[in-house]
Amino acid sequence: MQAELFRNARIFTPIDRGSPCSGENQGCLARYEDGALLVVEGIIERIGGEEEVLAGLSAETVENGYDCKGLCLIPGFVDPHTHNCFAALREDEFELRIAGTPYLEILSRGGGILSSVKAVAGADVEQLSANTLLQIRRALRFGTTTMEIKSGYGLDTENELKMLEAIGAAGRLTPVDIVPTFLGAHAIPEIYRGRADEFIDLVIEEMLPAVERQGIAGQCDIFCEEGVFSIAQGRRLLEEAGKRGMQVKLHADEVHDLGGAGLAAEIGAVSADHLLAASESNMEAMAAAGVVATLLPATAYSLRKPYASARSMIGKELAVALATDCNPGSSYTESMPFVIGLAVLNMEMSPAEALVAATLNSAYAIGMAKKTGSLDVGKQADFLLLEGGSPAILAYHAGVSPVVEVYKKGHRVFFESR
Ligand code: NIG
Ligand code: FE
Repeated sequence: MQAELFRNARIFTPIDRGSPCSGENQGCLARYEDGALLVVEGIIERIGGEEEVLAGLSAETVENGYDCKGLCLIPGFVDPHTHNCFAALREDEFELRIAGTPYLEILSRGGGILSSVKAVAGADVEQLSANTLLQIRRALRFGTTTMEIKSGYGLDTENELKMLEAIGAAGRLTPVDIVPTFLGAHAIPEIYRGRADEFIDLVIEEMLPAVERQGIAGQCDIFCEEGVFSIAQGRRLLEEAGKRGMQVKLHADEVHDLGGAGLAAEIGAVSADHLLAASESNMEAMAAAGVVATLLPATAYSLRKPYASARSMIGKELAVALATDCNPGSSYTESMPFVIGLAVLNMEMSPAEALVAATLNSAYAIGMAKKTGSLDVGKQADFLLLEGGSPAILAYHAGVSPVVEVYKKGHRVFFESR
């Protein structure tokens, strides 16, 4: 058994108490000034102050230990909401948006998500998976060690399965843990315009069974929004997905308050995502039901919308997670440090709250907390070394990644030469 020691680090980690961190625990970090980590076969064996971690270790293990030179050591980021499988960018649409055309209007004209659908239809699995891999590699350099990726630019059985196959293939070629999500109900395809219920029938009767047979996606998502899918359609699909043993979640109350947050609470979703327009009472219902609120501040930034009410959520004991929502339309960024910066400066989260949101709570939001998200004994040694003296550097060093080394299961997978 090969034991690897990392010493002379300033360690900051959320504390996993067996459920997502909410209220006061949202900003609670364990901290070891002269910290050390002992890793055996990719798993954390010991963590704490140097004296305690080094006790009883062989002279060889200590001598071969890696000197972290006083850098900050934190868990790898878990990005729990991305659309990183796509075939083309949408810069033309970005220009339209900044000139004033609303996001949903572009979609209603057959652009937006539907333009990504056309691009995906014209790409094969190899092209899609190569593109996905590029996205993953970029995110890895910014410290993402676990990532959720959705389908949703297929919108028919063949292309949804193709996307999931590409996500699965990319996942086998990267050290990053990939969690694939089926998002067949991401938009109403043009041939189903005005017939959303019939499209949901197709998703339930044809796509879901095919996705289950394919065996790649363990989660199901839907975009509930005005002009897209209703709450009743969301309930119908997610209940079916739940019966098939999938973890369920939804794009909820992104632009309008349709009650998506309330639906998430009602059906026991693992998370509800976006929530820019969610009502106070539905936030309370989510907190009571233990649903994680996955907030996507880079989407509010890019769509120039008011940010989600993180302070109010934390005040209601609703556990908050953070994600990039990386996609070619509403939020084109792979950077979790950027997202943390927005959360701290524009949503008034403290750096500690944002760190918990981007690691442990985001691991809970995709069912990965048993493996990762905090530096607890028995979890994977997924961690980062950061420049600077505390995780506040993530927000403070704006627009630049302070991530200098990335470790996945104890192996160094990124290193910035200094
Ligand atoms: O989370 N809102 C729906 N889906 C994505 C955007 C996808 C796209 O524009 O391509 C989102 O914002
Ligand atoms: Fe999204």
